[in-house]
Amino acid sequence: MRAIATAQPNIALVKYWGKRDVDANLPAVGSLSVTLDSLWTRMAVEFGDAPGRDRLEVNGEPAPGMVDRVSRCLDGVAGRERPAAAVTSTCNFPIGAGLASSASAFAALVVAAAGASGGDEDTKALARIAGRASGSAARSLYGGIVELSAGEDDIDLETLAAPGEWPLAVTVAVTETAAKPVGSSEAMTISARTSPFYTAWLARQPDDLAAARRAVRDRDFETLAAVAEHNCLKMHSVMFSSRPALVYWNAATLACLETVRELRRQGVPVFFTIDAGPQVKAVSLPGARDAVSDALGRTPGVVEVLTSALGSGARLVESS
Ligand code: PMV
Repeated sequence: MRAIATAQPNIALVKYWGKRDVDANLPAVGSLSVTLDSLWTRMAVEFGDAPGRDRLEVNGEPAPGMVDRVSRCLDGVAGRERPAAAVTSTCNFPIGAGLASSASAFAALVVAAAGASGGDEDTKALARIAGRASGSAARSLYGGIVELSAGEDDIDLETLAAPGEWPLAVTVAVTETAAKPVGSSEAMTISARTSPFYTAWLARQPDDLAAARRAVRDRDFETLAAVAEHNCLKMHSVMFSSRPALVYWNAATLACLETVRELRRQGVPVFFTIDAGPQVKAVSLPGARDAVSDALGRTPGVVEVLTSALGSGARLVESS
């Protein structure tokens, strides 16, 4: 009863920030994202013969601090009466630093757990289980450009464009590899309680989603760029105006924004987005990828540049 799955992180262009229900981890807003290709988490799940405590290893090291979250997610797939599992995760990019490592991890985990337990859940059911562990993980079950709709009691997901239908490029400027100081769940709760802009953020999200959805349908890069940058800066305004303030940016984050804005002034088709971390993600048309990665690589404070095409979502690679 062993299976291996891989999944890629996704980057939201219209962001999820805020929970409708903290216990069920239901998002208060819908979101729209792109699933990456060349960054990945590979997850092996092996169920033993008897119930007991699960074991988790991340990049070759025991990770007891994360095991409870993993166990709850395994319960969601294989039931609470399941045997104990040995879970081994390998990731080819920094963890917990605003690069959506929890999205790829939980997406890969649910697929591997379903493979190892012989479950027959469809992709949407697995996405809903992954979403309870990490809201953004639900989107990594799907490839290309993905919309997550937030309903009263559950989420729904849809692929708006497969990777080949609108082949965008994503360049990640890493400005810091250490883990972020405040995790996104805690930070969302702080924002909901204290930011005077939080209610306005929730109210305007359907408009941003509709504009982004139309832009994807029409392959209208300019409109997608405008709505994505606006939505990102609006989310960070909610964070900045929270108490305590949630400032994930550093000096290099701001320098990267300037680099992207300057490229666009020169006519390069590119826009930025930033999640709960200091890294800047630049989305471009594929022909602009080298110009974008060169410019970000030369920006002061950037420690590494990663590039990726859009990928096809979580998949089972082995099961026995
Ligand atoms: O899925 P979580 O709980 O890590 O939250 C993700 C929050 C953002 O990355 C900031 C936005 C998003 O939609 O991915």
